Amino acid sequence: MARRKKIYEGKAKILYEGTEPGTIVQYFKDDTTAFNAEKKEVIDGKGVLNNRLSEYFMTGLNTVGVPTHFIKRLNMREQLIKNCEIIPLEIIVRNFAAGSMSKRLGIEEGTQLPRPIVEYCLKDDSLGDPLVSEEHIAAFGWASPQDMDDILSLALRVNDFLSGVLYGVGIRLVDFKIEVGRVYDGDFQRLIVADEISPDSCRLWDMETGEKLDKDVFRRDLGNLADAYSEVARRLGVLPKISPPAGRPTLIN
Ligand code: TMP
Repeated sequence: MARRKKIYEGKAKILYEGTEPGTIVQYFKDDTTAFNAEKKEVIDGKGVLNNRLSEYFMTGLNTVGVPTHFIKRLNMREQLIKNCEIIPLEIIVRNFAAGSMSKRLGIEEGTQLPRPIVEYCLKDDSLGDPLVSEEHIAAFGWASPQDMDDILSLALRVNDFLSGVLYGVGIRLVDFKIEVGRVYDGDFQRLIVADEISPDSCRLWDMETGEKLDKDVFRRDLGNLADAYSEVARRLGVLPKISPPAGRPTLIN
């Protein structure tokens, strides 16, 4: 059997050449990192959960007309995605203050923001993904003004969709990060949501208890990360109903 070609390996995912032109296979690893990989651990089952959860959110977005890179899930850890040129920005949408925004501006974590606030970071690990302004983005040509309009509109639509879906299962979407990619279609080009949407890239708090159900569990040593992600998957109906007698639910297929 021919060995497939690895295109890129990141901290949490590996990209392989896809089966058809214009496609890529995205493999979700169990590797978990924080603080620009200063803290690292392999967490059993995390990749499987993120593959399923990202499939769930991206499929929903595609269905309501927000274009994403997601084509189909291939197996427990892999999904087929559209090849796109990643815009070198991390786009963060915040509904409640938390994390770096709370630190930077001295706003208590959990404070509701007057409206969703969108921030941009340059995707560059060697610089620690610094916060940048639209002036930097335009001056250095990381994205055009038209791209920025499209990115803002995508980010806010993703926020509305995710907030609603998660509200339905008693989870508050505090903030999240997306990445956006460019695809070409003949003479046209458009931007689509890329990378992943999972508890690795969102802050998710239980609406009643405030319990954290996202990567902060790992960043802040608050307990078992796979259990937290399983709880999100269970509430969304992403996990099959079967569970072993004692322990966390098993994922099939
Ligand atoms: P922050 O408060 O640390 O800036 O994080 C904001 C959001 O972005 C939060 O939902 C976690 C997510 N995030 C990533 O997806 N990747 C990252 O590298 C970082 C720092 C945050």
